[in-house]
Amino acid sequence: MPVTRRNFLKGALALAGSGMGGALSVPALMTLLPPPVVRCNSDEAYDTLLFKEREPGTWYEPLAGKVARKEDFALNQAAMVTWAPKELEQELGTCEIVLTLIKLPAEEAMIEWGISDDGGNAVMMAYHTYKCPHLCCKPVFMKEGLSSLSGGTYENMFLCPCHLSRFDPLSIVEATDELGRKVMVAELVEGPAPYGLPIVPIIERDGELIGRTDKLEWLKYCGQG
Ligand code: FES
Repeated sequence: MPVTRRNFLKGALALAGSGMGGALSVPALMTLLPPPVVRCNSDEAYDTLLFKEREPGTWYEPLAGKVARKEDFALNQAAMVTWAPKELEQELGTCEIVLTLIKLPAEEAMIEWGISDDGGNAVMMAYHTYKCPHLCCKPVFMKEGLSSLSGGTYENMFLCPCHLSRFDPLSIVEATDELGRKVMVAELVEGPAPYGLPIVPIIERDGELIGRTDKLEWLKYCGQG
């Protein structure tokens, strides 16, 4: 029988159910999946971060499809952007992913990974909101909120809507993923996620914000890569 994603997952789940694979979590099983067969058009690849289209009512709706620049953002303002470098297909088995780009008050740990702005008082940062490291939902940036887990209020955090994991974009720390790899993340504040939300390092080229592709291994979970 050929090893397809469907029969691989069926076999892996049967193994887990039999107890032999009981130590493996679902995310760990997902990372064992063979990569999906994808055929991306390399002529349509781009390494710039583009304001996401079809986001009615957002502040960036008039900029949809345009390359993001740091001057587009006010402090603590976030936007969803699409990113489709040609390396994505080989590394993650997909053609395009959606990230969240934010201008944040500068913290020292951010400088290496983001773009400094406002005389060094602010930094543009990109976060991998395409997949939560718990069970692969899509975390969203919240200006403010009330935690259903701890009861406290919070500001400017990522919240995963599925199981309420919360991540602090101002606290960039090194974490270890489920395969033992080192990953730079927005720190996990609460919730069941095994570690924080990975960042995507960015650079600036002629005023345009570009995603770096040298850390794509940080995004290899939930069956990607
Ligand atoms: S999928 Fe994000 S907390 Fe469960």
